[in-house]
Formats: sequence, structure tokens, C-alpha cells
Amino acid sequence: MTADNSAADASPAIDVRGLVKRFGSKIVVDDVSIRVETGEIYGFLGPNGSGKTTTIRLLCGLLTPDAGEGTCLGLDIRRQSAAIKRQVGYMTQKFSFWEDLSIAENLDFVARMYALPDRRRRVVEALDRLGLSNRRTQLAGELSGGWKQRLALAACILHEPKLLLLDEPTAGVDPKARREFWDEIHRLAGEGLTVLVSTHYMDEAERCHRIAYIAYGTLMTHGTVDQVIGGSGLHTRLVAGDGLHRIAAALDGQPGVEMVAVFGSRLHVSGIDATALDRVLAPWAEQPELRITVTEPTLEDVFIHLMNRSTDNFR
Ligand SMILES: Nc1ncnc2c1ncn2[C@@H]1O[C@H](COP(=O)(O)OP(=O)(O)O)[C@@H](O)[C@H]1O
Ligand SMILES: [Mg+2]
Repeated sequence: MTADNSAADASPAIDVRGLVKRFGSKIVVDDVSIRVETGEIYGFLGPNGSGKTTTIRLLCGLLTPDAGEGTCLGLDIRRQSAAIKRQVGYMTQKFSFWEDLSIAENLDFVARMYALPDRRRRVVEALDRLGLSNRRTQLAGELSGGWKQRLALAACILHEPKLLLLDEPTAGVDPKARREFWDEIHRLAGEGLTVLVSTHYMDEAERCHRIAYIAYGTLMTHGTVDQVIGGSGLHTRLVAGDGLHRIAAALDGQPGVEMVAVFGSRLHVSGIDATALDRVLAPWAEQPELRITVTEPTLEDVFIHLMNRSTDNFR
């Protein structure tokens, strides 16, 4: 999937290099460089505590980096943070509303708080853009998780930003609502917005034009999903048959076997050294009730591999 506008020719929405952020003696963001093209949906993945939220705050000027430089929407992240904030919609991980106000009242309140001109028009348009018009009088406190996310997103676009920074917007939301939320993100991107979104979900990563994976403050890989999988250097074998849990236990920790994961009636066995991997699997391949084939690692296989590797670096 590629952004279908002339994004590559335009100046990037985000272009930062060598970002470092320390809290006390701890390096939380370590030499992170990110470039997000205008109009693209960029996924930001990584385990908890790896520095996603901190990086997002550096990008919109809420935090100042200890080292590094760059631009957001062409503006300097160190010196022009006020101007950046005016053009960025930031949906925080733990957003909140006034539960005893309706959807429309919440949006009106936000518009007043930021002293936005044309308040009424903006509220009507935001309701319309996110399919909230029919529910405008419903109390925010009575909304399901999915509709709450939509309200939060509507609040983020009231000031008509050019860039959305969405920090785990779908955490804890059911799969159908997540899917619909992503339809909205694609619709907004289609209207020209650039979106950087952090997430834990692999299916969401696959709906991004490009992704980056960060672990313990270090950006481990970036690119399209295919580039990330292809560039991982990971080899995976699929084992199908009975007694997979027993086989998984036997393979775990063998030389060349880095990861073993059971998916129902299939087993994924992965490692960097294909020869070593096949050597370990050879005795199992002779068993008539098992089928062993070469398969492409999943995004999840690749991320777990990268996380293991970064934990090793950490030590
Ligand atoms: N204001 C802060 N002061 C001290 N430590 C912080 C602060 N904000 C985040 N951290 C620490 O920085 C690390 C990265 O946090 P965060 O950026 O929130 O990661 P993520 O969003 O990927 O879960 C964590 O170990 C967290 O505890
Ligand atoms: Mg976070």
C-alpha cells in the first residue's frame, strides 16, 4: 500500500534526526530519526515503555529533546512549538470528556476552550466528518468505547490540523469498532491529513502506508510492512500436524531456533540461520504425520525477534 498522492515530491510532514530524550539518568528515546511523508498514515509500534509517547511529545513540541533536531510541518521542533501545536491534532493515550455533556456540547466546549473562530460551523463539520451527527445529543458518558474514540478524534480535528498524532487510539476497543475507526483514519488521510498513529495491533500496522518499530528507545526498523518483513533476515518454517505443543517444547531453545509460536494447528519456528533451523527440524520432517514448509514470517514474528534482539543490546 502506498499513499496515492504525490507525497514523495512534497516536503515531509515530519522530518527529525537523532532525537534523544533522557529522564534522569535513563535514556528513553535514543537517537531516533523519523521521516513521515505528507498524506501518509505512519504506524508507530513497540512494546510498552519503549518511548512511543515520549517521541510523539517530542514531535509536537510538548517536550524538548536533549539532542537531535528536525521539523514538523516544516516548523522547527525546538523553536516553533507553539506554531506546531496550532496545526497538529494530538489524541493522547488517556483522553477524557465531560461525561454529563452531549457529544455536540463536548465539541462546543473544546472549541470555546481553544477560542476557535466559527465555532458552530466547526462543530457541525466535525460531527459530520466523523458520522456523529445523529448522536449529537447523546451524553458522552453513555457512549461505547468505539464512539468515545470517535468523539475524541472529532475533538482533535476541530481546529482543522494538517497532522494527526494518535497515541494508541484504539487500545481496549473491540475489533469491529477498531476497524471502523481505521476506516475514519483512512477517510481523513484521503482528505489530505497526515497521520502518525501508535498501536499494539498487527492488523492495524497492516493498514498503515509505512511503519516503524521502536524497542527500549531504539528505532529497530521502518518501511512498508513488506520491507520490514523482508529486511528482517528472519527465516520461518511452518509445522502442521498433531502434537504441536510437544514439538514446540522440544524445539524451544535448540541451536538456531530463536522463536517458537503455536497458532492453533500450526507452529511457526523462526531463526536467523536457515541452515541451523532446518538441521534442527530435520528429524521432525521425517515423521509422516507432520508437514514442514517454508513460510514468510509474520509481522508479529519479526517484532518479537526485534524485541529479543534489543533486550540483548540492553543487557
Ligand atoms: N515524564 C517522565 N518522567 C520520567 N520517566 C518518564 C516520563 N515519561 C515517560 N517516562 C519513562 O520513559 C519510558 C518510555 O515511556 P513512554 O514514552 O510512555 O513509552 P510508550 O509510550 O512506548 O509506552 C518509560 O520507562 C517511562 O516510564
Ligand atoms: Mg505510550
